[in-house]
Amino acid sequence: MNCLNGAILGRSHRAPEPKSKIIELLKLTHKLLKLPDDYRIAIVPGSDTGAVEMAMWSLLGKRGVDFLTWENFGDQWVIDAETQLTLLDSRIIRANYGEIVDLNLVSPSRDTVFVWNGTTSGVRVPNGDWISTDREGITICDATSAIFAYDLPWEKLDATTWSWQKVMGGEAGFGMLILSPRAINRINTFVPPWPIPKLFRLSKKGKFDNAVFEGNTINTVSLLTIEDALDSLRWIEREGGLNSMINRCTSNFEAVENWVNKTEWIEFLSQKLETRSRTSICLSLTASWFIELDEQARWKVVEEFCRLLELENAAYDINTHRAAPPGLRIWGGATVETSDIEALLPWLDWAWDNVSKNIERNEKFYA
Ligand SMILES: Cc1ncc(COP(=O)(O)O)c(C=O)c1O
Repeated sequence: MNCLNGAILGRSHRAPEPKSKIIELLKLTHKLLKLPDDYRIAIVPGSDTGAVEMAMWSLLGKRGVDFLTWENFGDQWVIDAETQLTLLDSRIIRANYGEIVDLNLVSPSRDTVFVWNGTTSGVRVPNGDWISTDREGITICDATSAIFAYDLPWEKLDATTWSWQKVMGGEAGFGMLILSPRAINRINTFVPPWPIPKLFRLSKKGKFDNAVFEGNTINTVSLLTIEDALDSLRWIEREGGLNSMINRCTSNFEAVENWVNKTEWIEFLSQKLETRSRTSICLSLTASWFIELDEQARWKVVEEFCRLLELENAAYDINTHRAAPPGLRIWGGATVETSDIEALLPWLDWAWDNVSKNIERNEKFYA
């Protein structure tokens, strides 16, 4: 609770002292992420979803847009394009779970919307080399499970979004939006052809609204949540900043990787080494009896596997997302200690042993 010493709660978020906390948070994030000086950052409503949709509604419409998708969250932004922003000239570039799209298809003359780290498939872009420095279009990057886990090439990213509950480990509720000068120029020179709700509005009288990026949030924020996010950022700073967070995530990934390499019944869902996520580590069960089951039965196996681990307080919520193929997902974000991951791995062998024995005894259960 020490982190709440000095917290300013129960006040208006517009009053000078609470606002100074918001500004401190923006400045500290800017510094820790090593953002270029002319990049602007804001707290926005609606968590990451709010931040991505705010960027889409405010920036898109001037050019054609390439939507890249290879898992659930990329799919969400495609659904927005296909059912809400129907005026868009959109091209969907899609890959299956475990794979990544052909990044060479992306056109520098079009805008691009993509997820850096696909949280539900554990597949990420390997780097930003495929984004042209001389592009005419802008890039919108959903970096929810990537921020603080990868060295992001800011010169390639025009609108970047995330929420605090992932790698930062902060309390949930708000989104963050980073805009490059090109994104700001788009707002200053283009009015999208659709209505923009107040919650998404980044312009005033047709011009970029600086105030939102100077701590005057669009609507009321939770000062308690701000305090918690500040606590997370101060922890990141004490630990050594961005590089230390990246190292912590890498070390977590390597612990899982070493175990996967010596374990027969499991593989990464991500097929290529260079696209394997170091935060949302997604794994496929590869035993032949498991693969031969239908999808419903495979989910039953995963549920049973996770239930056994929960009963022992060994792991919670390590099943893959419902939109992904049935399997396991281990969170390797920076707030996780590698020693905890190492302690978990023998439990996974134990659970697999038990589930495999059960299937031999009671095949009907899974049929
Ligand atoms: C890549 C990605 N995008 C969007 C979201 C949605 O985030 P939020 O719940 O913060 O809106 C998530 C949540 O896991 C995510 O991983």
